[in-house]
Amino acid sequence: MSLSLLAFVAFCAACNALDNGLARSPPMGWNTYNFFKRNYNEAVIIETAQALVETGMRDRGYVYVNIDGGWWEGVGTGTAIRNSSGYLEYDKKRFPSGMLAISNYIHSLDLKFGMYTDAGERFCNRDKNASQGHETQDAELFASWGADYVKVDACRTTESPEILMNRWKNALNATKRPMVFSNCLNNCTLVPNTWHSWCPVDSNLWRTCEDIDNNWEAVMTNLDSVANAGKKGAPGGWNDPDMLEVGNPGLSVIESRSHFSLWCITSAPLIAGNDIRNMTKDITEILTNAEAIRINQEYAGNAGQRVHTTSTTEIWYKPLPNSEHAVILFNRAGKTSTTITASWKLFNLEDKTECKATNIWNQTEVEIKVSDHIQRSVGVHDVAFFRLTDCT
Ligand code: GLA
Repeated sequence: MSLSLLAFVAFCAACNALDNGLARSPPMGWNTYNFFKRNYNEAVIIETAQALVETGMRDRGYVYVNIDGGWWEGVGTGTAIRNSSGYLEYDKKRFPSGMLAISNYIHSLDLKFGMYTDAGERFCNRDKNASQGHETQDAELFASWGADYVKVDACRTTESPEILMNRWKNALNATKRPMVFSNCLNNCTLVPNTWHSWCPVDSNLWRTCEDIDNNWEAVMTNLDSVANAGKKGAPGGWNDPDMLEVGNPGLSVIESRSHFSLWCITSAPLIAGNDIRNMTKDITEILTNAEAIRINQEYAGNAGQRVHTTSTTEIWYKPLPNSEHAVILFNRAGKTSTTITASWKLFNLEDKTECKATNIWNQTEVEIKVSDHIQRSVGVHDVAFFRLTDCT
């Protein structure tokens, strides 16, 4: 094989986990963007950190408090301000205490701090002076602020995203501070590539799709991007169909619950994107369901993926450690409740007859015996979500 062909094959090997000891299970936390867009400030961050503790989310694993786009001085003016030494400045009006103090406060609550930048010449909102050519300095700045997670976007790049993301990987590594590297190359339909082949470098999570939005159709579009990608998610590197819209007003409670279940079974990062200071009990219960989260965090050689479809329904499956199994029966597009049946054959369990099933969302069904298949009537846009154990 020629060297150039070898390089091509290596490049096409798609996304690889970053071996930095981080994100051994899908990262969990919260991010400003989905609910607040660029309208957030220090108070929002501090109050959200407190809410993560008070709602019990932190203790379920949501530890990253991630600031997204729009934190820099000069935001929206067309130019992000870098000081005379070239370091980006934060917006002094919205973050009067400064990023280090905010980060220290977050750490004092046993939470972790996440920052955001863009690998291009301009940020997504067109402000100049984004990170292209400043990778080392920006990584140093984030490390000096005690960041534990950096999301690197890929808007308005003039060099290849592969080169830029690689530089970011090296810059983060050079700081010696452990920081999760979230590779947000979100132009996933880049012709002729899709994210499967266009995933430039080793990272801890990589976007598989365009931006999610606060409506069911967008959630479904992003879900489809990981429907056949179970083999790609693994400890150290996860498929990222984007942050959660759970609890945002465009989804019903049922839709939020289905969205959450599907992100859990596909081992997607669980980065909440709602205003958790003001969420209803229903939404808190969804986000803190320990059994759903356990399925997300466990790994037995594959992230979950879709294994069966009809015109209106789907079945999703993830193998779990100790020969256990996660299953979702999903009424994606039915106009009425629909009976969905998953036979053991779909999960290569032909040799088994009986399993015990625990219903993740219905505590009256714990370790009930089921033979040969599992069947439920599932409401519109709803899921029935099970852990199967003790299959014999
Ligand atoms: C891009 C990303 C989003 C968010 C915004 C911020 O669109 O994909 O997740 O970070 O930028 O501007």
